This record gives sequence, C-alpha cells and structure tokens, in this order.
Amino acid sequence: MRLCVLTGAGMSAESGIPTFRDAQTGLWARFKPGDLASPEAYQRDPALVWGWYRWRAAKVAAAQPNAGHRILAALQAQHDVHIVTQNVDNLHERAGSKHVTHLHGEIMKSRCFVCGHYQTPDAILHDIEQLTEEQHEAPPNCQRCDGSMRPDVVWFGEALPDEAWQAAVQAVDAADEVWVIGTSNLVQPAAQLPVMALHAGKTVVEINPEPTPLTPYVHQHLAMRASEGVQQLVDQQ
Ligand code: OAD
Repeated sequence: MRLCVLTGAGMSAESGIPTFRDAQTGLWARFKPGDLASPEAYQRDPALVWGWYRWRAAKVAAAQPNAGHRILAALQAQHDVHIVTQNVDNLHERAGSKHVTHLHGEIMKSRCFVCGHYQTPDAILHDIEQLTEEQHEAPPNCQRCDGSMRPDVVWFGEALPDEAWQAAVQAVDAADEVWVIGTSNLVQPAAQLPVMALHAGKTVVEINPEPTPLTPYVHQHLAMRASEGVQQLVDQQ
C-alpha cells in the first residue's frame, strides 16, 4: 500500500513538544504569533525571535520520538510511507522514517535572512543543550554576507518552500490511503492536502482527540492520541 501521512503538532505532543492552538498548553495561548512568527517581528526584535526559536530547538533536542513516531517508522517495512509534516521538529526522522517532507521548514536549521546562506555547524544549535528557557539573544551574522541568521522555518505571511509543497501534492496524489494526525486543519495551504485527497477519492482517516473542520468529511475519525490511533490502524490491517 502507498500511504501518505499528514502530521501536525499533535503528533509530537506525547514527546512533550507543545502544540500551537490547544487551550492552556498551546504555544499561541502563551505567546503572540505576531511578536514571534513573521518577518516583521524578526526585523522589529531579532534577539527576541532568535532566542525564542533557540529555546524551542532546545526542547526538540531534549525530546524523544514517541510510540506514534516509532510505529510510523516501522510501517516502512511493509508499505511505501511518505510523511508530510507541518512540524518543524525532527522526531519523524529520529524515529527512523526515511521519506519526510517538511512543509513549514525545520527548527534545527538556520539560514541568512538576507542571502539565504546555510552555515556549518549550524548557529541555531550552538550550545543548545545548555538552554533551559527562552532568552533574548542577538542572532549571529552570516559568514558570507554579514546579514543576520534566522530560523529555517516558514513564518506567517511567507510562502511554503515550493519543492516541499510539490512533493506533498505528489505524495497525496500517489497515495492509496491518507492518514491525518494531530493537526487542527486550520492553516493553509497545508489544510488543502486532505481535501485534495478526498476529492481524488482516497480513503482519509483522521486521528485527533478533538474534532476539526475536516472531521465531518473523513472516512474514519479516531478520537484518541496519535500513538493509540496509529496502533489501532496498524492492528486493523
Ligand atoms: P495546532 O496546535 O493548530 O493543532 C494541534 C492539534 O493536535 C489539535 O487539533 C489537537 O486537538 C491535536 N492534538 C493534541 N494532542 C494530541 C495528541 N496527543 N495526539 C493527536 N492529536 C493531538 O497545530 P498544527 O495543526 O500543527 O505553523 O498547526 C499548524 C501550524 O500552525 C504549525 O505548523 C505552525 C502553527 O502556526 C508554522 O510554524 C508555520
């Protein structure tokens, strides 16, 4: 079977990485996206933004893939599995998944705000294990053009990386079945992918403890945590 798995922040919740929109625990309940997640915010206060993303990268570095990530990685032994994630963490890869497309970039990488240059070793990872909370920190300068480094993530108002979007559309197109796990299905264009799958007549299964705008249209909604849901789908096969 060719399986396309679309994942969002709920996939990593069991690894201790906060989601965005969950009441109380979601990042957007504690922080304002307008202060932290746009090019304008970065230009206004680069040290605030760089320090916040470094803190989030530190949380990812300290986290471990959960049972859900591991079950999806193990599925590769039997099926052709393409994971398309809105998550900027690297937990799918660390669990062993080989075919992962990042729609919203990767928090463990940085690039120059001006010229786009990536440097090695990556500045965003510098002494990351020492960081325990968010703190203002001026971003380092680009070794090529002296511009400022920024996290390699997609911010509000920015386009998705074209290559990633094309790969995602192809993965949906090629799939026999699509699993949508741990996303509120509120952010475009990512939320279009399951809709495209439904229009193309694919079987779409959603795993999310809460209903989302997609829920009324899917073939099966498993109202449970990601790890329980993927285990149930594997047991059903
Ligand atoms: P959200 O925070 O919007 O949604 C997370 C979803 O996960 C919610 O629907 C929860 O009900 C669900 N959830 C919580 N715990 C879960 C668990 N253990 N198992 C399964 N589901 C669980 O996160 P996303 O939909 O990923 O953008 O948000 C999309 C984008 O909005 C993010 O990629 C980010 C954010 O602004 C960028 O960084 C560009």
